[in-house]
Amino acid sequence: MHRIRKPKLSEVLELKKLVDYAYKMGFILPRTLEELYENVRDFYVYADERGLAGCVSLHIDTDRLAEIRTLVVREDAQRKGIGSLLLNAVIAEARDLEIPQVYVLTRVPEFFEKKGFRRISIEQLPYKIRKDCARCPKFDNCDEIPMILDLPIGEKG
Ligand SMILES: CC(C)(COP(=O)(O)OP(=O)(O)OC[C@H]1O[C@@H](n2cnc3c(N)ncnc32)[C@H](O)[C@@H]1OP(=O)(O)O)[C@@H](O)C(=O)NCCC(=O)NCCS
Repeated sequence: MHRIRKPKLSEVLELKKLVDYAYKMGFILPRTLEELYENVRDFYVYADERGLAGCVSLHIDTDRLAEIRTLVVREDAQRKGIGSLLLNAVIAEARDLEIPQVYVLTRVPEFFEKKGFRRISIEQLPYKIRKDCARCPKFDNCDEIPMILDLPIGEKG
């Protein structure tokens, strides 16, 4: 059965291939195998008869903020609703944890706008700047668009 679930450790090598594909296409930042193992519990995957068709991760920054990272759908599986299912899974987890806001840095703002995210400036994410951006070689000419979604506690989306 096709469904969203947590990855198994035996799937991390396959997860790496999916992430590498998206990195080589210029869609997302690279992730090393070590990072994937260390953060594997942040991830959800979608598996079909060909293997892993998609992944996403929810990375907690603070008690008030989490980042949605590494959202990838295998090329042949795109535009079938899998990206939406993966996004819904991390949003549901953020709501369960009572995290009031989730953000993403993306090159596909249209996809996230359809899900209710709004564009913000990177200065509105000082924790992210300190943690990652300040060390990024593209800091001065970043081509990713920061977007945020409010998750009011008590309201189900
Ligand atoms: C972006 C991505 C995750 C979307 O996944 P998907 O499974 O193809 O998306 P869905 O089928 O759930 O599409 C949901 C909606 O978004 C739209 N959409 C999907 N991809 C889009 C894109 N690249 N640009 C604009 N809109 C897009 C769909 O048309 C659909 O609209 P609808 O609800 O009006 O029909 C997928 O295209 C992908 O993996 N891209 C490469 C990696 C990437 O850019 N990841 C984002 C990192 S932040």
